[in-house]
Amino acid sequence: MSAEVTIVDHPLIQHKLTLMRDKNTPSAVFRQLLREISLLLGYEALHDLPLTTRHIETPLAPMDAPILKGKKLVLVSILRAGNGLLEGMLDLVPSARVGFIGLYRDPETLRPVEYYKKLPEGMPERTSVVVDPMLATGNSVCFAIDRLKEAGARDIRFMCLLAAPEGISNLQSRHPDVPIFTAAVDERLNDHGYIVPGLGDAGDRMYGTK
Ligand code: URA
Repeated sequence: MSAEVTIVDHPLIQHKLTLMRDKNTPSAVFRQLLREISLLLGYEALHDLPLTTRHIETPLAPMDAPILKGKKLVLVSILRAGNGLLEGMLDLVPSARVGFIGLYRDPETLRPVEYYKKLPEGMPERTSVVVDPMLATGNSVCFAIDRLKEAGARDIRFMCLLAAPEGISNLQSRHPDVPIFTAAVDERLNDHGYIVPGLGDAGDRMYGTK
C-alpha cells in the first residue's frame, strides 16, 4: 500500500504560496514566506508525535502533564533549497537534531549526485522529517531516504511545498512507508524536470542566483 499524501491547503498557506509563485516576488520575501509556510506544514506533519507524561507542579497543584516521548526529532535538509523549509521547522521544534544531504541534479540524466552527507547519531530511534520544497521527479528525495534507511531510520516523513504527480508516484513506489506532506500538487513536469506551473527553481528564488 502507498503512503498517504496530505495536502495541507489551509487558506493562509494557499495565500502565501500564491505570493511565492509570483515571479515578481523578491528573494527576501520568498524566503520569509517559505519559513512561514514551513511552520504550518510542520504542525500538520508532526500531528501524531507520541506523548508521555511528566509529573510537574504548577503554582497551584501537582499534575501529570503531556510531554513529547522518545529521542529528539531529526530534520534532514536536502541542500540547498531544503534549508528554506528547515528554518521554519526549527522555529517549531528548536531542539531538533539536524542532518544535511547535499545533492545536485545531473542536468542530462536528472539523477541525483551526492556531494555531502551528515546525519546525527541514533537515527533508528528518532523520527525523521526530510525537507525539500520541490517534489519534482522524486529522484533526489528517494536517494536521500535511501541514505537515511542505510543509517537505520525507520519513522520517516517527507515535507515539501509543491509536488508533481510524477514525483509522488515515484516516492510512493520506492518508499511506500513514507508519508508525504505538501501545500499543493501541481499539473506536471516539463522536459527539464521543472514543476508546471510551479514557482521556478526554488534555490534560485531563495538566494537570488538567477
Ligand atoms: N526543483 C526546483 O527548484 N523547481 C522545480 O520546479 C523542480 C525542481
